Amino acid sequence: MERTLTIFKPDSVAAGKAGQMLGQIEAAGFRVLGLKRLRLSQIQAESFYQVHRERPFFSSLVKFMTEGPVIVAALEAEQAVTRLRELMGATDPAKAATGTLRRQFASNIERNAIHGSDSAENARIEIAFFFAGSELI
Ligand code: RTP
Ligand code: MG
Repeated sequence: MERTLTIFKPDSVAAGKAGQMLGQIEAAGFRVLGLKRLRLSQIQAESFYQVHRERPFFSSLVKFMTEGPVIVAALEAEQAVTRLRELMGATDPAKAATGTLRRQFASNIERNAIHGSDSAENARIEIAFFFAGSELI
């Protein structure tokens, strides 16, 4: 079993789509270990996406991720990291395959509905960013 972290980004929470997205993730065989709704501070968003700090889209990404509440979930499944990224689809929804979450729910390459960890190691770091061990059941 592997763990991964997902964030339903401010666009999908504002549109009331997070529940539908989580339903599809559960239907695909993921188990929810932890779930919370919160609003990222600027410092939290900058820290979470610090790998992108030199990219031209960084400040816009931080502004987007802090514009309203997000819902974060720690998930468990076989090959959870890869399988969630397959379910999400490409970063740019115009390039995401039919049936993927981003194809269904994302607006554009930035406002793309959902985050998923990109490696098992980053998943551990990202889950610890949001959840205490005792909150993962
Ligand atoms: P994520 O980290 O959110 O799961 O997305 P990802 O791996 O598919 O994409 P990544 O390259 O890590 O980019 C992180 C987020 O930054 C925004 N972005 N905007 N304007 C742009 O060209 C651009 N490129 C990326 C997206 O919100 C992307 O998910
Ligand atoms: Mg990424």
